[in-house]
Amino acid sequence: MAHRPLVLSGALLLLSATVARPADLPPAGERRVGFDHGWRFQKGELPGAERPDFADGSWRTLDLPHDWAIEGPFDPTISPHQGSLPAYGVAWYRKHFTVPAAARGRFYSIEFDGAMSNARVFLNGHELGGRPYGYISFGFDLTPGLVFGGENLIAVRLAPERDSSRWYPGAGIYRHVWIDAAGPVQVARWGTYVTTPGASEASASVSVRTELRSHETQPAPVTLETAILDAAGKEVARTSTAATVATATETVPVQLTLTKPRLWEQEQPYLYTAVSTVKRGSDVLDRYVTPFGIRTIEYGPQKGFLLNGKSVRFQGVCNHHDLGALGSAVNRRALERQLEILRRMGTNAIRTSHNPPAPELLELADRMGFLVMDEAFDMWRIPKVKNGLAKFFDEWADTDLRDMLRRDRNHPSVVMWSIGNEIPEQETADGWKVAKRLADICHREDPTRPTTAALDNSDQAIANHLAEQLDIPGFNYKARQYARYVKEHPQWTMVATETASCVSSRGVYHLPIEKYQKHPSLQLTSYDVIAPPWAYCPDVEFAALEASPQILGEFVWTGFDYIGEPTPYFNDKDSSKTDWPSRSSYFGILDLAGFPKDRFYLYQSRWTKAPMVHLLPHWNWAGREGQAIPVFAYTNAEAVELFLNGRSLGRKVKGAENVTIPVGKSASDEPTFSTKYRVEWQVPYAPGELKAVAYSGAQAVASDVVRTAGAPARLVVSPDRQQIRADGDDLSFLTVRVEDKDGNLVPGADNLVRFKVSGPATIAGVDNGNAATVEPFQADQRKAFSGMALLILRGRAGAPGAVQVTASAFGLADGQATVTTAKE
Ligand code: GAL
Repeated sequence: MAHRPLVLSGALLLLSATVARPADLPPAGERRVGFDHGWRFQKGELPGAERPDFADGSWRTLDLPHDWAIEGPFDPTISPHQGSLPAYGVAWYRKHFTVPAAARGRFYSIEFDGAMSNARVFLNGHELGGRPYGYISFGFDLTPGLVFGGENLIAVRLAPERDSSRWYPGAGIYRHVWIDAAGPVQVARWGTYVTTPGASEASASVSVRTELRSHETQPAPVTLETAILDAAGKEVARTSTAATVATATETVPVQLTLTKPRLWEQEQPYLYTAVSTVKRGSDVLDRYVTPFGIRTIEYGPQKGFLLNGKSVRFQGVCNHHDLGALGSAVNRRALERQLEILRRMGTNAIRTSHNPPAPELLELADRMGFLVMDEAFDMWRIPKVKNGLAKFFDEWADTDLRDMLRRDRNHPSVVMWSIGNEIPEQETADGWKVAKRLADICHREDPTRPTTAALDNSDQAIANHLAEQLDIPGFNYKARQYARYVKEHPQWTMVATETASCVSSRGVYHLPIEKYQKHPSLQLTSYDVIAPPWAYCPDVEFAALEASPQILGEFVWTGFDYIGEPTPYFNDKDSSKTDWPSRSSYFGILDLAGFPKDRFYLYQSRWTKAPMVHLLPHWNWAGREGQAIPVFAYTNAEAVELFLNGRSLGRKVKGAENVTIPVGKSASDEPTFSTKYRVEWQVPYAPGELKAVAYSGAQAVASDVVRTAGAPARLVVSPDRQQIRADGDDLSFLTVRVEDKDGNLVPGADNLVRFKVSGPATIAGVDNGNAATVEPFQADQRKAFSGMALLILRGRAGAPGAVQVTASAFGLADGQATVTTAKE
């Protein structure tokens, strides 16, 4: 790569990584190219940083996506709601690029998948525009201000504020950036809308509405060709329409018919593509590709939710957008890993709480067959936090919602639009008006999907008519009210938008089993019984949904732990003193590193059919010999037999005797709750082996074992994928276990693990799932937590080879692993 010293305003700039390369603009015939590479970054107000002659030679060079806040440091003066991380302040990103003279004649735009937040975007010193909401995708035309045959500069000023979110938002250009290019008549941004009403296995009528945009001053006659390709790329239908784009935009509807289409099903999520080609004579002005699926959705109080005519209950989870140690910087593989793990638990649906997701999440959901509740907002006009989106709601909400729908409405995975979460307007007399306005936007932009919102003050929302503005009212933590709502509103279809909020720390058990309290260890027991006052353990929801099958299913809070909101360990008055360093949630079914907590298996026992059984707690209770230890088994089989050191402690039929667990008011009027979803024994402790064998009839179908572990002896490192792409983006997630000499996980082990990585990869992050530590996520070492740690490796771009990983800890045998990075 050329090193080109430029003298600008007396400053010597070495534009090595930022010198334009042809790849900065889409090559002829292509619509889009990534614009992530070689940005300059600097924090600070920096007046004049939008100007081309501003000296940025000393700024840091980086590639997007980038989240500056995840770099830390943790700071007790920053709210734990936002993860005690510096996700605020002003910062600038600049990218220099050259536009060749030959590029004239095409029309260019810059497209941001999301920037956190209060973005202002400049081209060559002139402001193109701004966008306050950090989760929305947006873009600007570049062409009028571009210098053809010369240097250009994009500068982005971000200004996320303190107290702008109830969780960790991250900070920076944390999603991908693209340059789009097309001829003077082109498909508008998110300009296609593909629907397949009434599709069946026999035939599908595919309707494609294409919004054409013209940059010309005269009416522009063109031909729009629409082709449908199957998943193998073979054309299966085509139509051609003459159109004249007389005004700035013109919408052209076409209809195509497919016989015997492959439907988009959860198990076989078959995808087609619509290719829209805009031509003038034989000149191709634009070629725009829209992946879509052929499927129908229906819903109703009696029939429930139907996908292609078949009933589906939502076995869903809510997730925030951060990716643990990677922060909010989006990464396709990290998202894919999350979905793979959730799939193993039996999850079939995701709620994108409480904001529009990264496009990658929807692409993966389409490909993997997840259903998505796509959510727009966590607040409307009435603020929940001082600097939240209420500040710009009046000015931007309609545009933000419209853009979310236009961007996302071709995804077959998206089955519902949520216009808000726990909106304070539930309690105001005219809150319904805002709900109606937003629901109307959804219906106008996409009449094929229902709207919902997550109601926590549901009685008020019903009384003030807000709930009836929604096609499917959603309830947060209302397990005890479902039966009443079903009775009082027999015509409504309803869903449990948020459930459980059970809290726990992986691998931590306190005896006796405690009720909800701030345990001084800053860790919460994993017996899966405790939840804050508004919430409850999973069993309560299971029972309520069984009793009210009219409710479409549930979305558990949350699939994964997330940064911020360390309930119950924050104190709004003085967070620094009380509960530091708790800084991430305990709600996850999986911890922040993506390791399953026991609850994973409780949901698996409810949501999957392949025989499984899981035992808890661990079996290291030195000092409690002879004392009764509560032992739970989670299973989807009929019965479980428990053995202690080979001796049977009896076989128990699941559900035959209820297990009593402590709960709060939101679960029961009594201080306990009887659950048939667990099997329990009180086992007098003796070290050795505890074994559960699950039975279906007389047949043993699954087993699980926990053994008393000895002293830590060695580290064992296991990559989730041994081969990754050498593209600077793909990741391998390596699990580290602290084991005794016999291969048992040592439950309480917290050894400091140091990583040595040699070969073409870098450490993208480290974690251990401990919500109460301020060790940095970007480091080459991590303490184990409950015997485990995580290393995330990123393959270096264009440098395939073998990567050797060594994990070492004082006094233990090293763990080793090899990961190969390969060309795509
Ligand atoms: C809900 C809220 C979520 C989260 C959760 C914790 O009320 O919608 O964002 O705060 O509580 O239990």
